[in-house]
Amino acid sequence: MFWGDFVNRNTIRLDRRLSLCAEFVRNGAAVADIGTDHAYLPIYLVQSGKISRAIAADINKGPLESGIEAIKQYGVSDKISARLSNGLEKIKSDECDDIVIAGMGGELICSIIEAAPWLQDGDKHLILQPMTRPEILRSYLYKNGYEIIREQAVESDGRIYTVMLAAFCGKAETLSDFSARVGRLKPQERELDKEYLERVLVSLKKKHNGLLCSDSKEEAESLSLTIEKINEYINGGKNG
Ligand SMILES: C[S@@+](CC[C@H](N)C(=O)[O-])C[C@H]1O[C@@H](n2cnc3c(N)ncnc32)[C@H](O)[C@@H]1O
Repeated sequence: MFWGDFVNRNTIRLDRRLSLCAEFVRNGAAVADIGTDHAYLPIYLVQSGKISRAIAADINKGPLESGIEAIKQYGVSDKISARLSNGLEKIKSDECDDIVIAGMGGELICSIIEAAPWLQDGDKHLILQPMTRPEILRSYLYKNGYEIIREQAVESDGRIYTVMLAAFCGKAETLSDFSARVGRLKPQERELDKEYLERVLVSLKKKHNGLLCSDSKEEAESLSLTIEKINEYINGGKNG
């Protein structure tokens, strides 16, 4: 190692949201971080020794360039390659074991998975952190033969996010609205999972009121059943 490398090799710190994504990555996995932006996640994974190589990919030049800059700054250019790619378009199946897609909307994450059929391989792990519409992502996963192996809520900067670990199992399933909104969160075991679901309830109740005002009685009725079930699940632990 040259002195210059030593000087530049400061250690990166992640916020709690990205830390939980990092926790879901397998030791020694080859990682592809899709929508990497600043590339903090792969830099952390390599610096901590959890993994030895990663691809940091982004669709936009600007974020990718800031990622490349950070990769250089933290002295890990030999272990992380940066790639301009729309989703997984420029990434081959044999280049990665664990794929992280974090900080994007749930629908965009679905479209990235949809465009990469090689993810239909039980050995691949998907670490997904949707910023919006997690229920659409969960429904998509189950409908297309993936299952959520693990899910956990995490708090960062006053917001609560959910992080999922999914893999292909080959069994397609249609989720009920309740299951799509609750996922694999465990409100009885983890206080933050409970808080996350309480926030889901608040927004569903608002939506329910809106439906009543707009005279969408049928939709309102079905949503009120979901609300009731989530309420029961949070407070009584029943999973319907
Ligand atoms: C909000 S940042 C998230 C950065 C990081 N993953 C995180 O969670 O902190 C979203 C990034 O996704 C990138 N992005 C959006 N659509 C993408 C796509 N289809 N393929 C790859 N990257 C994409 C954007 O350019 C942006 O840099």
